[in-house]
Amino acid sequence: MGVAVFGSFMYDLMIEAPRRPDLGETLRGTAFRRSVGGKGFNQAVGAARAGASTAMIGMLGDDPFGQEFRNALESEGIDATHVWECSEQQSGTGVGMPVIFPDGNNSIIIVPRANMEIGPEHADQSKEAIQDADVLLMQLEVPVEAVMRAAEIAHEANTKVVLNPAPFRELPPRIWSHIDLFTPNEGELRAFASSLGMGADGSIHDLAAAFAKRMDVELVVTLGDQGAFHVTPDGHTDRVEGHQVHAVDTVGAGDTFCGALCAQLAEGVAMHEALAFANAAAAISVTRAGSGTSAPHKKEVQAALEAGGAGKIEVS
Ligand code: RIB
Repeated sequence: MGVAVFGSFMYDLMIEAPRRPDLGETLRGTAFRRSVGGKGFNQAVGAARAGASTAMIGMLGDDPFGQEFRNALESEGIDATHVWECSEQQSGTGVGMPVIFPDGNNSIIIVPRANMEIGPEHADQSKEAIQDADVLLMQLEVPVEAVMRAAEIAHEANTKVVLNPAPFRELPPRIWSHIDLFTPNEGELRAFASSLGMGADGSIHDLAAAFAKRMDVELVVTLGDQGAFHVTPDGHTDRVEGHQVHAVDTVGAGDTFCGALCAQLAEGVAMHEALAFANAAAAISVTRAGSGTSAPHKKEVQAALEAGGAGKIEVS
């Protein structure tokens, strides 16, 4: 029961910089830190800290980064039965290089390495964990064939399938009948709409409504500091506004949102309350440095909601 996350691990080497470097320029950064990260891992931490019993399914390298992830999974109480290791000769643990700018925004380069060794056979080997979960949460930093197989297994078992389509990649058309909830950000939704030949300009709300109807899928679209909204294929919409906070590091905020949202949905919470909870969790996470490890615990999110906003509580 709870949330199964099928996805990636990236060991983040994070740099703070005053701006983007120009081509050929060497720019002096202002800070460096390391963090266990990757969209899959970050989402698993987000779900676990939001109170869900959480299992992670993914691939590490047989190296010190992989060991750090194993320690982190253990200390977060995340089930790692289906976390495999491939040997260093094949591929090491995936790495990410987020660059964080003074306004808290970021750009990221990833080298997925071991994450690309995950295949449909690993989805089959973790069948029970997927079938037992209330929600299966996935992203696109691992091969699409593996995502497809995990979605099939979950769909057959009535496990809710949530796909966070990040980073953008073309998807096989048959995946759509297996997805219950699609959670792009604005840029990803426009990219998917464009790849499907839909006009991708204009209001994001109109585009989301047209997309939900055309693909017959529910959407939750994240809008960064503007909040998020939900839209169903029959046009029902629901919206939560962003929180006023001082952002220091937005890396992993969308992942915290997705993990927290799925934890709430796994608990049976209604969509509007689940959205509000996930939105507050993401807002708190950007006030702290780190990738997935900046996700707040359930009590902190509840305190923020009771206080009337994430900017109204003291965060550590
Ligand atoms: O979403 C943030 C994550 O994207 C980072 O942790 C980075 O590793 C990339 O996977």
